[in-house]
Amino acid sequence: MKRRISRSIHIPSIYDDAYLSFLEGERHVPFRIKRIYVIYKCVPGLNRGHHAHKKTHQAIFCLQGSFDLFLDDGRTKKMIHINKPDIGAEIPPLVWHEMRNLSGDAILMVVASEYYRKSDYIRDYDKFISFIKKSHG
Ligand code: TYD
Repeated sequence: MKRRISRSIHIPSIYDDAYLSFLEGERHVPFRIKRIYVIYKCVPGLNRGHHAHKKTHQAIFCLQGSFDLFLDDGRTKKMIHINKPDIGAEIPPLVWHEMRNLSGDAILMVVASEYYRKSDYIRDYDKFISFIKKSHG
């Protein structure tokens, strides 16, 4: 089966006198959510990430501000500009990702399928490529 590098995730928004957006595990993201983390008060223009996860599946949202999400599954590279609270992007396992050019006011929210485990990270790009070759042939 062809792996998908990422798909965009549109979460529902309800408007009365404010917008209310919501995200449900196993509905809007294809996994049970075990962890949520936020990144904020960024140095303007900051780049972060530069890793892939062996098992963790994630979805990333920008609640305020903007950034560019760079994705690479070892075959295809993709850049997605993210600047709306209700449209995020999936980061499947074994996809190298970098959050680039974060605005100073950016507030990122990431939902993840696994608890934090240092050993789930691949932080070296060459090791990532070797890992992909071993996993997918
Ligand atoms: P890291 O995932 O490298 O951040 P980014 O993807 O934005 O570059 O995490 C930065 C630090 O925070 C690192 O020391 C690990 C720690 N951390 C946790 O303890 N728990 C978590 O859930 C996350 C995401 C990071």
